[in-house]
Amino acid sequence: MEEISDRLLYRKTIRKYSSEPVDDKLLNDILAMGCRTSTTGNMQVYSIIISKDEEKKRELAPFHFNQKMITEAPVVLTFCADFNRFNRWCRLNDAEPGYNNFLSFMTAAIDALLIAQTVCIASEAKGLGICYLGTTTYMAHKIIEVLKLPKGVVPITTVTLGWPAENPEQVDRLPLSAIIHNEVYTDYTDEYIKQYYRDKELRNDSQQFVNENNKKTLAQVFTDVRYKKADNVHFSKILLQVLKDQGFMEQ
Ligand SMILES: Cc1cc2nc3c(=O)[nH]c(=O)nc-3n(C[C@H](O)[C@H](O)[C@H](O)COP(=O)(O)O)c2cc1C
Repeated sequence: MEEISDRLLYRKTIRKYSSEPVDDKLLNDILAMGCRTSTTGNMQVYSIIISKDEEKKRELAPFHFNQKMITEAPVVLTFCADFNRFNRWCRLNDAEPGYNNFLSFMTAAIDALLIAQTVCIASEAKGLGICYLGTTTYMAHKIIEVLKLPKGVVPITTVTLGWPAENPEQVDRLPLSAIIHNEVYTDYTDEYIKQYYRDKELRNDSQQFVNENNKKTLAQVFTDVRYKKADNVHFSKILLQVLKDQGFMEQ
């Protein structure tokens, strides 16, 4: 118990991996642990695509904006919302599925994310390093092509997995008091907002980000550089089209 609490408290994302492969039996055990995660109605409306083949990872790389983890990690896992399998089972059993809507997409996406997180915890508990890739939802249309995902399946997130070849500093978190509300939500005063984000703003790496990008504040690095409106609007349009194409916006 102590070990798992330490693992959770001191964990960090790993972006550099050694060339040592991840043993198939270990990967299988980790995925089995992931698949014990709770899912809506125990429907398990998710699938996991394993990419280990160098060629396949190279094909995926541009759609993850060439983040080096994709080609350098021995294992790449793409977690998908998947109603294809469940719909097929329904139809084979004289049951008409009503899952071609946005709510069902959310149900399946939540399942996929919960499984992904358990797989990450299980991997880290075995000493492996992981990194999530948020590029999956930006380039879902392309990832669908590479991984040959049929209608009813949408990639939600990607995790790179391997033996750590770095030991980075832990990054910051907001204080717990900034996150927790007792019984009801207590909205923040401006003073509390400033106080809660102060430590993050004062970090050396934050200052460096601000200077490198010629910005005045750390918040501007988020709004103007890292997660800017034009990109959010552009990738939202693509993702909405993906949901239509994959059959989740028909009702
Ligand atoms: C949904 C999601 C998407 C992420 N996407 C990326 C990514 O595309 N590239 C990357 O290097 N890190 C990515 N990360 C990792 C975060 O940057 C990282 O978790 C965060 O900075 C906190 O660091 P820590 O995990 O070491 O505590 C992502 C994390 C999550 C949960």
